[in-house]
Amino acid sequence: MVNMNNSVTTAGQSNYVAKTFSGLEQVLAGELRAFGAADVEILRRGVLFRGDQRLLYRANILCRTALSILKPLGDFRFDSKDSFYDQMRTIKWTELFPKDKTISVIATAHDSEIFNNTMFVAQLSKDAIVDQFNEAFGSRPSVDTALAQVRIVVNIQGDNCKVSLDSSGEALFKRGYRKMGGMAPINEALAAGLIMLSGWDKTSPFLDPMCGSGTFSIEAAMMAAEIAPGLDRKVFGFSHWNDFANGMLEEEKEAARSQQKPLKAKIIASDLVGKMLDITRTNIMGAGLMGQIKVQKNDFFSYHPREENGWVLLNPPYGQRMKEQDIRALYIHIGDTLKNRFTGYRAGIISAELDAMKHLGLRPKNRFQVFNGPLKATFNIYELFEGGRDDYVRSKGRNVESQKPKAKSQQPKANSQKPTANSQKPTAKSQQPKVKNNRTI
Ligand SMILES: C[S@@+](CC[C@H](N)C(=O)[O-])C[C@H]1O[C@@H](n2cnc3c(N)ncnc32)[C@H](O)[C@@H]1O
Repeated sequence: MVNMNNSVTTAGQSNYVAKTFSGLEQVLAGELRAFGAADVEILRRGVLFRGDQRLLYRANILCRTALSILKPLGDFRFDSKDSFYDQMRTIKWTELFPKDKTISVIATAHDSEIFNNTMFVAQLSKDAIVDQFNEAFGSRPSVDTALAQVRIVVNIQGDNCKVSLDSSGEALFKRGYRKMGGMAPINEALAAGLIMLSGWDKTSPFLDPMCGSGTFSIEAAMMAAEIAPGLDRKVFGFSHWNDFANGMLEEEKEAARSQQKPLKAKIIASDLVGKMLDITRTNIMGAGLMGQIKVQKNDFFSYHPREENGWVLLNPPYGQRMKEQDIRALYIHIGDTLKNRFTGYRAGIISAELDAMKHLGLRPKNRFQVFNGPLKATFNIYELFEGGRDDYVRSKGRNVESQKPKAKSQQPKANSQKPTANSQKPTAKSQQPKVKNNRTI
C-alpha cells in the first residue's frame, strides 16, 4: 500500500526535497528558509522542506545551490516484482500529468534483493504508468530518455521504494549562460555554494584569478546583483503537470526581477590562457553581464591585486595528467603568492588534491568537505592577515569575524615558504571529471 503521508500535508502544502551536492546542504537550507520554506530538514545531499505551490515555483526560480527539486508522491514496501508493479500502478498518474506528455523514469536501487538492475526498475515503473494511462484513455505518454517533459524519480533502498516527480525538469545548475565550457568548468551550483561558504559580502572586490570559463565570477555577479538563476528558464518540470499555474509562475518571476539591483562589487576574472578569456567573455555575455566583470589575461603568480582587501577564489588545475611533483610545486607557489601579494584578503580554494593542500603553508580558518563532480574535495578558507591570524586577533583584541581585514602589506611575509628550485608553472591541462549517470528509461 502506497503511503502518501510524505507528499501532501495540510491544505495546499506539500513536502518537497531539494537535491544538492554533498557539503552544500546547510547553504541550501539557508536559501530555502530565506524564501519562506517551512519545516526545513537537512538530508544527505538534500533538504526536505514544506510549502505551497507558489513556494515550489519560487524555489525553482531562486535557488542557487539546488540541483533539482522533487515532489514526493509516496513510498511503499514491496516483496516481489509484481507487488512493486501493483503499487506503482496505484499512484494516480493520470491525475498528475496529461497523456500527451513525454516521460522518463530515473531509477536508483541499493541493497535490494528483488532488483539488481536499475534499468529493469525503470522499465517496470514505466510499464505501470503507461498501463494506467492506456486503461483510462486508450493512449499513453511516450518515453523520451533524453529530454522528457515529465521526469519520474524512483529510489529503492532495500525493500522500500520512494517515488517522486522532478519539478525542475532540466537540472537547475543549467542556468543557460554557459555557452562554452573550457577545460574543467566547475558546476554552477557548486560555484555558487562555495561563494556563499566563503562569506563574501557581495560588495568587496572579488577576484577569480584562475577563471577558466568564468563560473565563479558570473555566479558572484549574479548573486550580488540579485539576478535569479532561473529567471530566463521558460519551462520547468512542473510546467507539464496538470496543476500548472502559468500566472503564478509569471508573478514569481516578476517578483524575482524586481529584486535585481546594480552590481556594486568589483569582480575580476583572469586566466593565464587567452582562449579561456574568450570563453569567459562568451559566458559573461550569455549571462547578460557584459561590462560588469573585468576580464584580463594574467599569470596568477605575478598578479598584484590593486585593492587592499577582498576575496579571492581559486579552483586550481587538476587531473591525472599532472605529476605529483608538479602538483606539490603548484601548491607551494600558490601558497607563497597568497601570502606575499594578497595580504588583507580572504582566500577560498577548492581542491581534490588533499595532500597537496598542506603545501600551501597556510592554516585554514574554515574547512568544508565537498565533491567536485565525483572527486572528493576540500574547500578551505584562509584569512591572509599580515603576521598571521593570531597576531591579527591579538592586535585587535576582539573577534576578527566582524571586521574588515587591514591594509595589504607591500613586503613578503617572513614565514612564507619559497617555491622549490624545481617549481614549475602549472599547465592549463586538466581533465573533465567523469560524471556517473543513473539509469533512465
Ligand atoms: C580547473 S580550471 C578552473 C575552472 C573554472 N573554475 C571554471 O569554472 O571554468 C583551472 C584554470 O587555471 C588556469 N591557470 C593555470 N595556471 C594558471 C596561472 N599560473 N595563472 C592563471 N591561471 C592559471 C587554467 O588556464 C585553467 O583555466
